[in-house]
Amino acid sequence: MAVRRPSWKCRTGPGPLPVNVRADGTRESVCRSCWAVAEPGKAASEGDPDLMSQTGSGGPGRRAISERHAGRGPAALSRGTVPAMTGALFDLGTVPDAYERYLVPPIFRPWANTLVDFANVSTGEVVLDVASGTGVVAATAADRVGDAGRVVATDVSGAMLALASAAHPMIETIETAADELAVGNSSFDLALCQQGFQFLTDRPAAAQAMKRALRSSGRLALAVWMSGSLLEPFDVYGRVLERHGMPEPFPRAYAYDFSMSPGEVDDVLTAAGFTSVEVESKVLEVSWPTLDDAVNGIAGTPYGPAVAALDHEDQRRIFAALREELHLVHPMTAVLARGRKP
Ligand SMILES: C[S@@+](CC[C@H](N)C(=O)[O-])C[C@H]1O[C@@H](n2cnc3c(N)ncnc32)[C@H](O)[C@@H]1O
Repeated sequence: MAVRRPSWKCRTGPGPLPVNVRADGTRESVCRSCWAVAEPGKAASEGDPDLMSQTGSGGPGRRAISERHAGRGPAALSRGTVPAMTGALFDLGTVPDAYERYLVPPIFRPWANTLVDFANVSTGEVVLDVASGTGVVAATAADRVGDAGRVVATDVSGAMLALASAAHPMIETIETAADELAVGNSSFDLALCQQGFQFLTDRPAAAQAMKRALRSSGRLALAVWMSGSLLEPFDVYGRVLERHGMPEPFPRAYAYDFSMSPGEVDDVLTAAGFTSVEVESKVLEVSWPTLDDAVNGIAGTPYGPAVAALDHEDQRRIFAALREELHLVHPMTAVLARGRKP
């Protein structure tokens, strides 16, 4: 078992410093790990010991950042708690359409390519995609396995899967929960799961179900957002709604714990009996076509239906705040893990 933990840590030294591009075209440098913002105009350099105490020129986003440093912000919440959120939340209203339209192109498609590369998907393989959503990972895998292979996409949300079927006729779809997985035993070469595992209330059962579906020596590869790193745009969406006094639209909506640490992922796969488990972190830069897309992306999340139900003036205030706090370019950090069924 090889666990490669991130080499950068916000408290022990600043990590790489990606540049965010704000809506007005100005740029700012931040710590990739803890999101501290360097002073405008000052070129922060890697290893700058002052960076951790810099919180920029003020504003609500900056306050949240400094709270993270003081251990009082969202990232300081307990990580052991599994969110009581189910896939039903992705079924609601316009969530599936908005997810596919706004979130898949800049976020989930680039990450799908990364996961499929990480999993070494090959021609002719039989692939299971768990919590497939609108099918971007399944479709990416289908391109790799070709006509000689087969891809089955599963999700608890029928509405998300309906879009997967419509857009990607080459994949098969089965509506089933990840911890039950109504698919045949020992029938897949590879199981994939992108940004679904962290939502599951029974992760050990889901890991067991994926192992059961794999043939002997079959592989598993999954990706989850990494805890302790900023998760723009999702935690910006939540933070803005919380600050505007919206009651939590679903359980633990403002707990910001839809993520896992490398150690948590390693533990759950190892406990399920996977061997050769490898866990690593990966950062990709997200680049939104326009700031409106980043703002509209909230409609593709479980926050979306609650925002849609607000009156016009409340919506206007929330969208204005999102425009202020979201970036056109920003990093996202995920834990990638793979293992093998003995
Ligand atoms: C963020 S989306 C990821 C979708 C897709 N893997 C992608 O990369 O675009 C999370 C998905 O997990 C699904 N999901 C949540 N809980 C689930 C469960 N218990 N069983 C199966 N799918 C679930 C949701 O319906 C949703 O489609």
